[in-house]
Amino acid sequence: MKDQQDPLFVRRDVFTSTRKKIEAMQSHIVKLTNITKTFFTKSGPLELFSNINLSFNPSTSYALIGESGVGKSTLLHIASGLEKPFSGEVHFGEQNFWGLKASNQSLLRLNDTAIIFQQYNLIPCLSVRENIEFQSRVNKKHNTEYINEIIEDLKISRLLEEWPENLSGGEQQRVAIARALAAKPKILFADEPTGSLDEKNSKLVLDMLLNINRKYKTTLVVITHSLNVASKLEVCLELKSRKVAKR
Ligand SMILES: Nc1ncnc2c1ncn2[C@@H]1O[C@H](COP(=O)(O)OP(=O)(O)O)[C@@H](O)[C@H]1O
Ligand SMILES: [Mg+2]
Repeated sequence: MKDQQDPLFVRRDVFTSTRKKIEAMQSHIVKLTNITKTFFTKSGPLELFSNINLSFNPSTSYALIGESGVGKSTLLHIASGLEKPFSGEVHFGEQNFWGLKASNQSLLRLNDTAIIFQQYNLIPCLSVRENIEFQSRVNKKHNTEYINEIIEDLKISRLLEEWPENLSGGEQQRVAIARALAAKPKILFADEPTGSLDEKNSKLVLDMLLNINRKYKTTLVVITHSLNVASKLEVCLELKSRKVAKR
């Protein structure tokens, strides 16, 4: 009652709700804090990067570029909760990923993320169709109409009953892309998703990824060697000399 007599009551209310909306827009999907990664190889420790700080924000598209062997795939595996950093923290929203119990980590990976792997990683004992539908069936976001559209767009309809081992590299890559899109993640990580594709299919795939980013507000992180691909994404990050910088 006291509040309602306050002439600023309505405005405060509006102010609070606007501030909440702005905060929601700004808050990250995934945040990396002081990330360090060292591999202990036979020839000694290999420090890939140190003290990396990065936020991947809602609805935003990112390119990650850098020379071969610099650690791009490793950084993507760390940001997606697949690989543990040597030190530093990975937050999914407000949750400290490596502080959670394993079952909750799995749930976050399943519901929030999807990855198009550089080596595709299709499951060999499942057909192409089963591979595409797998994550979306487990995370309960399966939608037949939507998946059929993706299959149609990627021109892989005739491959659905095949085994992954019978597919060419480019075909496996398109199936891996379909699987990731079908899962409707909050954040989609794509490790050189056009690496095995010809120019025409590369353009098609990039347009599909951008469309998903716009239509479903999916955060997009794309590792690429192509400056042309990078130029189509909103933020370009470069991994160089063990640091990430905006280009
Ligand atoms: N599990 C591992 N054990 C030891 N070294 C690794 C491991 N994974 C990757 N590396 C090394 O780390 C470096 C970076 O690898 P990667 O992240 O695949 O680079 P990029 O994707 O930029 O080409 C490479 O020299 C690679 O050999
Ligand atoms: Mg790589």
